[in-house]
Amino acid sequence: MNNIEISPSILSADFNKMREELDSLVALDIKYIHFDVMDGNFVNNISFGIPVLKSLKKGNYPLLFDVHLMITKPLKYAVDFLDGGADILTFHYEAVTKNELAKLIDIIHSKNKLVGISIKPNTKPQVLLPYLDKIDLVLVMSVEPGFGGQKFMVESLEKIKFLANYKKEKGLDFIIEVDGGINEATSKDVILAGANMLVAGSYIFSNNDRKKAIDSLK
Ligand code: DX5
Ligand code: ZN
Repeated sequence: MNNIEISPSILSADFNKMREELDSLVALDIKYIHFDVMDGNFVNNISFGIPVLKSLKKGNYPLLFDVHLMITKPLKYAVDFLDGGADILTFHYEAVTKNELAKLIDIIHSKNKLVGISIKPNTKPQVLLPYLDKIDLVLVMSVEPGFGGQKFMVESLEKIKFLANYKKEKGLDFIIEVDGGINEATSKDVILAGANMLVAGSYIFSNNDRKKAIDSLK
């Protein structure tokens, strides 16, 4: 057993029975749920937002919400997502100024939540070097953000390796999360490269045997 966390993306779940979908994951000892927020502006798709998060989180729900903001104004909405139940709040490097980025780190930490920064496929991981000792998680996008069910981009492996080497070299402990096109084959490559948290949407939710699907990712 390795220390890999799986964060199933509810973007691929059946929205008509969302709570049941989540309950089935809790029963399989899943700790995190990946919650993809899309604004139709930062990405070419619209998903769900704060009211849906609040509703799913109601009643001390045991899952930790790993919220991935694919929106143009993360600073404007950060507090609402934190108060709404985000346990990890990840925003995109491409969506913020350096000043906004610093403010977001402070706001998220002031609420005792984990802060993540995500990079799109065309963004180099080197841009994150000034922040890696201040954040809890880096989310490497291995597809162009916006849709589930896309093909894994192998170029992301080099980025993961770079981050994993840097982390080791500097004795840091941020989480390296990968998102997009993860299945039983690509999961092995990203784990080998140094990722320790894997998002998987279509692979888990399209599989009737969810336990088998989740186990096959580790
Ligand atoms: C894409 C989202 C992903 C998506 C992954 O923009 O950020 O989290 O749900 O879906 P799969 O695992 O199907 O590639
Ligand atoms: Zn995501």
